[in-house]
Amino acid sequence: MEETKKSLLDDSFTSAMALTNSGVPQVPDRYVLPPSQRPALGSGIGTRDDTTLPVIDLSLLQQPLFRSRAIHDINKACKEFGFFQVVNHGIPLPVVKDALDAATQFFDLPVEEKMLMVSSNVHQPVRYGTSINHSTDKVHYWRDFIKHYSYPLSKWIDMWPSNPPCYKDKVGKYAEASHLLHKQLLEAISESLGLEKHYLQEQTEEGSQVMAVNCYPPCPEPEVTLGMPPHSDYGSLTILLQSSEGLQIMDANKNWVCIPYIEGALIVQLGDQVEVMSNGIYKSVIHRATVNRDVKRLSFASIHSLPLHKKISPAPELLDGNNTAAYGEFSFNDFLNYISGNDFLQERFIDTLKKSSS
Ligand code: OGA
Ligand code: NI
Repeated sequence: MEETKKSLLDDSFTSAMALTNSGVPQVPDRYVLPPSQRPALGSGIGTRDDTTLPVIDLSLLQQPLFRSRAIHDINKACKEFGFFQVVNHGIPLPVVKDALDAATQFFDLPVEEKMLMVSSNVHQPVRYGTSINHSTDKVHYWRDFIKHYSYPLSKWIDMWPSNPPCYKDKVGKYAEASHLLHKQLLEAISESLGLEKHYLQEQTEEGSQVMAVNCYPPCPEPEVTLGMPPHSDYGSLTILLQSSEGLQIMDANKNWVCIPYIEGALIVQLGDQVEVMSNGIYKSVIHRATVNRDVKRLSFASIHSLPLHKKISPAPELLDGNNTAAYGEFSFNDFLNYISGNDFLQERFIDTLKKSSS
């Protein structure tokens, strides 16, 4: 492992934060995307009437008179977008703000301190990095990140950053709260598929939670680069907290849509595992992150997943003579092996599992 760290350092690892702090007037060439992949900022593309994007009031799930209405709205949002925002989700605003504050302090640390956790090994439980995988990326993305396993918290928290000193406590509280919220969401999503309420949760019991804490510093040329390329998340679902606007999702017409910033709201994104378990009734959402000239944007992506070696397959209740399994089974570990050996931007892992309809 020491070797990996050393070679990354020798390889002049440069974080996006370091580039921003040095005041570069342009992005280095390795960040420049081919014109067809650029985000078309300010062109009107990606803007749309916000009122059509789903926002679900989760407190309605607790109210017998309104629960079925909320489940219906979740079904519609999952079918149409694979995405929705939630308000009244039960995570107090101070918990959210404290987590963002700890992340700000972490990314503001001197380079040497952050480099203590650098790794290009995707199996590493705590890992600091830049772009997607600095050592293999052909094009680089304007993002720094720290990712850490987060559930069960007591198993992993000692390995988390000890600087800033508040990090473990503040991010730990947010991680625990988002784990509880994800269970509640899985119940509602199971119900919205017509499955037994605990179906998805039982599948994911003792599964993993990876917290990706992303930092997108101000960028001198936001029109030619991205913070994260188009992808879908590998887990069952992702709860995303953003400090300002920047996330875009691809809608059914393959148009990019900006997700508006709503203070205190959280974004729920369906991942590949729900697409497979729902046998494609719900699709995982393809999304990307744009960057901007003036504001440092932070996000927490809490990615919930089935246990590492558990095989994931379509729910038997959704299959019958007319509906056969549309995907082969896979485990989270299979996915990690895939991304270690393949360029996941060329072909998504989930697309390799699709059975040709015959
Ligand atoms: C991710 C992700 C988007 C964002 O971490 O998987 O899609 O807005 N992040 O940071
Ligand atoms: Ni993502």
